[in-house]
Amino acid sequence: MIAAKNNKLFIGEVAASDLARKFGTPLYVYDEETMRSKVSALVQNIAYRPLRIFYAAKANTNLSVLKIIRDEGKGVVGIDAVSPGEIEIALKAGFKPGQVIFTSTSVTDDEMKFAISRKVLVNCDSLSQLERYGRLNPNSKVCFRVNPDVGAGHHGHVITGGPESKFGIWAADVGKAFGIAAKYNLRIVGIHEHIGSGILETDKFLAAMKVLLSIIEKNKSKLTDLEFVDFGGGIGVPYRPDQKPIDFVRFGAAVSRLFESFCSSFGKKMSLIIEPGRFLVAESGVLLCTVNTVKQTPKHKFVGVDTGFHHLIRPMAYGSYHPIVVVDRCTSEKTEKVAVCGNICESGDVFTRDEHGIVDRELPQIKEGDVLAILVAGAYGFSMSSNYNTRPRPAEMLVKGREVKVVRKQEDLSHVVYGM
Ligand code: LLP
Repeated sequence: MIAAKNNKLFIGEVAASDLARKFGTPLYVYDEETMRSKVSALVQNIAYRPLRIFYAAKANTNLSVLKIIRDEGKGVVGIDAVSPGEIEIALKAGFKPGQVIFTSTSVTDDEMKFAISRKVLVNCDSLSQLERYGRLNPNSKVCFRVNPDVGAGHHGHVITGGPESKFGIWAADVGKAFGIAAKYNLRIVGIHEHIGSGILETDKFLAAMKVLLSIIEKNKSKLTDLEFVDFGGGIGVPYRPDQKPIDFVRFGAAVSRLFESFCSSFGKKMSLIIEPGRFLVAESGVLLCTVNTVKQTPKHKFVGVDTGFHHLIRPMAYGSYHPIVVVDRCTSEKTEKVAVCGNICESGDVFTRDEHGIVDRELPQIKEGDVLAILVAGAYGFSMSSNYNTRPRPAEMLVKGREVKVVRKQEDLSHVVYGM
């Protein structure tokens, strides 16, 4: 669990301030128990069987994280991989090729050859990809992605359904996909959709499910080999204090009911697949950093820390809100409004912001040397980090109760000072 005890932030049973002191900052820290609880919540609350959960590894590809998810997933959980790298790391984490699906976009032949060589099912994103896949691997199983013209998500950049989205085969073109599949004797074992990311309104997810199921129903005669329907990921988590978590008992029951009744009218019991990324890992991660500069402008009191958008790009990329706490004074009577900013040389490098600009945050009075924790940073945090400004990336740590393990070493200058 990640929570305040006696006004101090704890990750598992370890005080965040002790981690910062011992390992230095910036530092990503993940709590194993939180991760495990998310995996089991999903597996338990979606009653439909056979159920398969493909963890969208792009959210966090740390090898230890993948191993925990595999272990807790007990055969139900596999991997949604978007690149040869993600396929390879999934296999390295112990997932079997049959537990991995390769769902990418603007895919090259070489990438498909790689997936085929690893015996991983390819999920085609376009008619072009399906045609090229058929040429590369005729007489095999395949899956394709449909754009259901229903989109949702926390920001325009992550909405993947509808005409603005580059993803999937447009519903009206599905007939052409069957033609290509027939030409290469491909068996369509799966149909996929993914409408977007960070969805807290489950109605949209259910509406998109219905659209995909009606497309499948209409094309029943062409889908005699269908083994699964994959409804994608996108399950949101609360970041802002005013956001509520999804009611999983209700959501799981609604998803199960819908698919159960579809399968009985379709006349075939198929596997139900969903592909959560964020849901499984976001709340298990924090990014610790240390305040090194406090300065005042006529408009803002800036609190400068030793990390920035090269380590956590979500505020800068989407205006995303991440809770921030002072690890030794999670609450305090004496508060002030500040803008927490990073060490990257761009004015947009401010963690307390929305899409339009800086939004001051009410925090306990901060002084130089304080350690801050940026919360809900386990998903799309480290995995989207970079070496911008020729800065090394932080270490990643895993906490299990009292145990603390380095699961990726901190980079040093040798990682950023190289080349011809
Ligand atoms: N399946 C597919 C095909 C996807 O493209 C994605 C995410 C997922 C599953 C998992 O979505 P999730 O359950 O994590 O919402 N960087 C953005 C999120 C990008 C999501 C991209 N695709 C962010 O930080 O909010």
